[in-house]
Amino acid sequence: MTNKIYQLTHPETGKTASLPVREPTLGPTVVDIGALYRDHGLFTFDPGFAATASCESAITYIDGDEGVLLYRGYPVEQLAENSRFIEVAYLLLYGELPTAEQLATFERSIRMHTMLHESLLRFFNGFHYNAHPMAMVTGVVASMSAFYHDTTNIKNPAHIDIFAHRIIAKLPTIAAAAYKHSLGQPFMYPQNHLDYCSNMLHMYFAVPAEAYQVNEVAARALDLLFILHADHEQNCSTSTVRLAGSSGTNPYSAIAAGISALWGPAHGGANEAVLTMLNEIGSVRNIEKFVAKAKDRDDPFRLMGFGHRVYKNFDPRAKLIRKMCHEVLEELGDPNDPLFELALRLEEVALKDDYFIEKKLYPNVDFYSGIIYRALGIPVSMFTVMFAIARTVGWVAHWMEMNADPNGRIGRPRQLYTGPAQRDYVPLDAR
Ligand code: ACO
Repeated sequence: MTNKIYQLTHPETGKTASLPVREPTLGPTVVDIGALYRDHGLFTFDPGFAATASCESAITYIDGDEGVLLYRGYPVEQLAENSRFIEVAYLLLYGELPTAEQLATFERSIRMHTMLHESLLRFFNGFHYNAHPMAMVTGVVASMSAFYHDTTNIKNPAHIDIFAHRIIAKLPTIAAAAYKHSLGQPFMYPQNHLDYCSNMLHMYFAVPAEAYQVNEVAARALDLLFILHADHEQNCSTSTVRLAGSSGTNPYSAIAAGISALWGPAHGGANEAVLTMLNEIGSVRNIEKFVAKAKDRDDPFRLMGFGHRVYKNFDPRAKLIRKMCHEVLEELGDPNDPLFELALRLEEVALKDDYFIEKKLYPNVDFYSGIIYRALGIPVSMFTVMFAIARTVGWVAHWMEMNADPNGRIGRPRQLYTGPAQRDYVPLDAR
C-alpha cells in the first residue's frame, strides 16, 4: 500500500471519500474502494469486471495493449522456447523455477499419480456413448472429492500438495477415458515411463491390439500448447475456481466449477467453435461474406478465435501457435491443409478490415490451436478438454494462492437491483 489517496466527492452531499491507492509491480494503479460502501453507502457497478481487480495475485501478468504475457515474471515466449510444460507447472504452483532435483521429484510425483481408482473408471460406463467429453470430464472431476475426502483438509499443506499433484496427474487419464468411451475402445492405462504429453497421446491413440509409438513432434507440439494454455490470470474459469473455492468447498469441486465455466464458446469452447466456423466458411471464396456477417450488428455471428477482453493487440500465444502450426502440418499433416490456408487468409482479411482494426480484434490463442489438435488426430469434441487439462495447472495455482491468503474472504458481489420495489402479496382470486 502506498500513501497515495484517491479523493471522490459525492455530487449531492459534498461528502468526500478517501480511497487508498495500491501500486502493482506492473500494470495500472488500483484504487481500493472498500470505504465507498462502508463509509458512504455506495456500491460500484462494473458488469463483467472490466475494470475491477477481484483479488491480489502474484502468478501471471498480461499487458493486453503490448501483447505481453508473463508467468511469475518470465515471458511466455522464453518459456515456450526453453522449458517444458511440467517445469512451467512447477513454476506456476510454487513461484520459482525448480532446481534439477526439485523438478525430478515433482515430475516423479506427477508420474506416480496418473492412475484412476477403478471405481472412478467405471463411472464412464454410466455415460451414453455420445456424451460430450467435457460433460464427462466435469462430472468425473467433481466426483474425485468422493474418493479423496480424507485428504481435502484445505488448511493442511500436505493435503494441498497431494490434491495439486493428483489432479494435474489424473486429468489426462480422465480425458483419455472419456475419449475412449466415446469411441467404444478399451481404456489404455497410463505408462509412467512416458512424459506427461507422450503419456496422454499414448492413452488416446494406443489400442491393446497393436504397438504404439508416440510421435515426438506431436508430443512437443502438445507440450508447447500446454505451456501457452497453462494460465491466464483472472479469466472467467479461473475466477470461477476462486469464487467457488472462497466458500471453503473442497478443491476438486472448485476445479469442476472452473471446467464448467471453460466450456462456454466465449471462453475455452472457442477452439471447437473456430473449427466449426472454418468448416462452415468452407472456402476462401466465402470469407468476405462471413466477415460481413461478423460486422453486421443485427447478425449474432462473430468471428470465432478473434477478439479478447484483455488483448487489444496480437495475443502472443497466437503468434507462437501459428508458427507451430506450420511445423506440425509439415511433419504430421498436409502442409497445404485447406483449413489452415483458409485460417491464414481469414486472418489476413480481418486484420486489414476497418471494423477489426477499430475494435482492436486480433486472433486469440484459440484461432490456430484447433488446427494443431486436428493434425494430431484429436477430435473437435476433445479440444476444450485439452484446454482444461493445461489450464488445471493455472486453476490449482490460483486456488492455492486464494486459499493461502490471510485476508481472504468469501467472494460475494453486490448488485444494482432493478426489480419491483416492495409490494403486497395479491391472493390468487384477486389477480
Ligand atoms: N467478431 C466480430 N465482432 C466482435 C468479435 C468477433 N469475434 N469480438 C468482439 N466483437 C465486437 C463486439 O460486437 C463489440 O462491438 P460493439 O462495440 O459494436 O458492440 C466489440 O467488438 C467489443 O466486444 P465485446 O463482446 O464487448 O468484448 P468482450 O471483451 O466482452 O468479449 C470476447 C471478448 C468474448 C473474447 C469476444 O471478442 C468474442 O466473443 N470473441 C469470439 C469468441 C472467442 O474467440 N473467444 C475466445 C477468447 S480467448 C479464451 O477465452 C481462451
